[in-house]
Amino acid sequence: MKIDAEGHKFKEGTIQEGRVRWKSPSNIALVKYWGKYGEQLPKNPSISFTLDKAHTITQIDYRPKLDDGKLDINFFFEGKPNEAFGQKIEQFLVRQINLIPWVTQLQMTIKSENSFPHSSGIASSASGMSALVMCLLDIESKHKGVEISLAKASYISRLASGSASRSLFPDLAIWGSHNAIKGSSNLYAIPYGEEVNPMFKTFHDDILIISGKEKSVSSTAGHALMNGNIYAENRYMQANQNLMDIIRSMKEGDLEKFGAIVESEALTLHALMMCSTPSYMLMEPHTISVINEIRQYRKESKHPIYFTLDAGPNIHLLYPDNIAEQVSPFIKEVLQPYCVGGKMIYDKVGKGPQKLTHE
Ligand code: DP6
Repeated sequence: MKIDAEGHKFKEGTIQEGRVRWKSPSNIALVKYWGKYGEQLPKNPSISFTLDKAHTITQIDYRPKLDDGKLDINFFFEGKPNEAFGQKIEQFLVRQINLIPWVTQLQMTIKSENSFPHSSGIASSASGMSALVMCLLDIESKHKGVEISLAKASYISRLASGSASRSLFPDLAIWGSHNAIKGSSNLYAIPYGEEVNPMFKTFHDDILIISGKEKSVSSTAGHALMNGNIYAENRYMQANQNLMDIIRSMKEGDLEKFGAIVESEALTLHALMMCSTPSYMLMEPHTISVINEIRQYRKESKHPIYFTLDAGPNIHLLYPDNIAEQVSPFIKEVLQPYCVGGKMIYDKVGKGPQKLTHE
């Protein structure tokens, strides 16, 4: 047993004190994960764009403590102690203690901040949990002198939040097994960016913040309602087919087909919410107005600009980089006024988590 200068007791050979800091992005599903079973396993495979600007930065300061089998964590969200989030993280770590048993050796101060309003339908759990997991695996890899395995990071992130499993990879990620996709698994996501037309590496995702309010029904509760939904089995079949079709469209660079699937996926997701028991709705009147504006503009201009939705009212506007200049006046003049406080995030497809070494 060793005692440090401040009187803390810890075992020899334990992890020494240090700091890790990671930035990890959100992602936007093109074919949606909606419905799960067992321990965070998806009922159907999903595919997403990894984002860039919508991200979480997490820092962990850690030092050894007596390993009494208990966690010792202080959690700060955007500069303030946040008990609700802290508890969510603690519950996750306790549940997965066999994967990261060394966490009880450490006193950890976790500080996290988002680049976007939390619980607004932008997948804050995806960026938040993947950033946390990258920090934890960084501590482990420093101690053991090994590289971080992204497959392991994806596996652990999945256990915290399903969509978080897809935030670890550049460009595009697939989570969930499909017979026709080699290496696909329900346990972790795999990278898919290399397989498609390069235009999808620079795709835009402008996020229109229709409301910054907390969601009335969480995604976790929404997934659970799929168990009693009479359309569930057909939906899972449709998602498998849509995955095949969207991959083909992305390989062929067929934007019309790509857009049709993406929009159908978004509306199907919200339709499933509306026909759950109890029924609920996360779209706001401005969500519908923006969808109508986009469809009208597309019809008139012939520009390949499409929308998708997360489990919330906000719109993700998807379009290729080569039309960015032409569509910009429409976005700024017609769509932006629908956003709360004019708030938008001009995002693009991104490269995945990034280690930050300095403040
Ligand atoms: C609509 O990953 O937030 O964004 O696994 O319960 O944490 P949990 O749910 P979550 O669900 C995301 C659902 C979605 C679609 C998607 O990202 O695929």
